[in-house]
Amino acid sequence: MSLHISPMSPSFGAKITGVDLKKAVADDVRHQLQKTLSEFAVLVFPKQFLEPADIVRSGEIFGNLMPQQLKKYILPDFPMVGYNSTKDLPLKDGKLQVRGENYHTDHSNSVCPPRATALSAVKIPATGGDTQFVDVRQAFDDLSNELKEKVIKMRSLHVHESSRSPRMFTKLSEEDLAQIPEVIQPLVIRHPMTGRAALYLNTGRMEGIEGMNLDEGFALINSLYEHATSPQYEYRHQWTEGDFVIWDNRSVMHQANADYNPEEFRYLYRIMIEGDALQAFSQ
Ligand SMILES: [Fe+2]
Repeated sequence: MSLHISPMSPSFGAKITGVDLKKAVADDVRHQLQKTLSEFAVLVFPKQFLEPADIVRSGEIFGNLMPQQLKKYILPDFPMVGYNSTKDLPLKDGKLQVRGENYHTDHSNSVCPPRATALSAVKIPATGGDTQFVDVRQAFDDLSNELKEKVIKMRSLHVHESSRSPRMFTKLSEEDLAQIPEVIQPLVIRHPMTGRAALYLNTGRMEGIEGMNLDEGFALINSLYEHATSPQYEYRHQWTEGDFVIWDNRSVMHQANADYNPEEFRYLYRIMIEGDALQAFSQ
């Protein structure tokens, strides 16, 4: 068995075969996978069918695991592993209220947001429930030079829930909420491995732009968000049971879809990989 990397496009998304994540991987494979995640931003490992212990070991290929924020959705025997289950989701007007349903990057209001997040599919509905990713590196590269120069100097306050959030967040306990940070993040970040620039956006958590009035700040955020979420930057993952997918939160935004039959059972494990504080990009 030897590692095989099939790029889905020149620099965004890669399918990985020839590796069994139920076993420890050799150091050369580990380095190759780390490098490929930094370059391609989304890695898809089909048909791995991982148990929680395998997921912990697979995540550790990429770094230390980061604790899940929502403590009510963690596995008692594997506290670093969370889960997304339709059995926990409320219904509103016949539609499931799915977490993560608009493009975002995880925990951007943390000083050190997770470097990567991964999901491992256990049970998937017959149709729907895809996860979408957009390449915010390419979205930055395609801005005009004038706009690039303007936005690389900007910063934004990220809070638990923006006053203009388009997304509903899970209500947190007083205890959890007390631990939630607020932090000023660069609007354009530098990838710690590749040095590539990327837009850093999260409309659910951003509270305007530093030094701009709120309306102007939100207008700029919304126009960058609209640009970055256009279809040419998208990879849409249609889940198959057994898939393990990991993505780089310094290079993509992602979103969930609630477009499946709410009667069907959908269950995925979730882990996050620790990251350092974000670096501002400068030319
Ligand atoms: Fe998310």
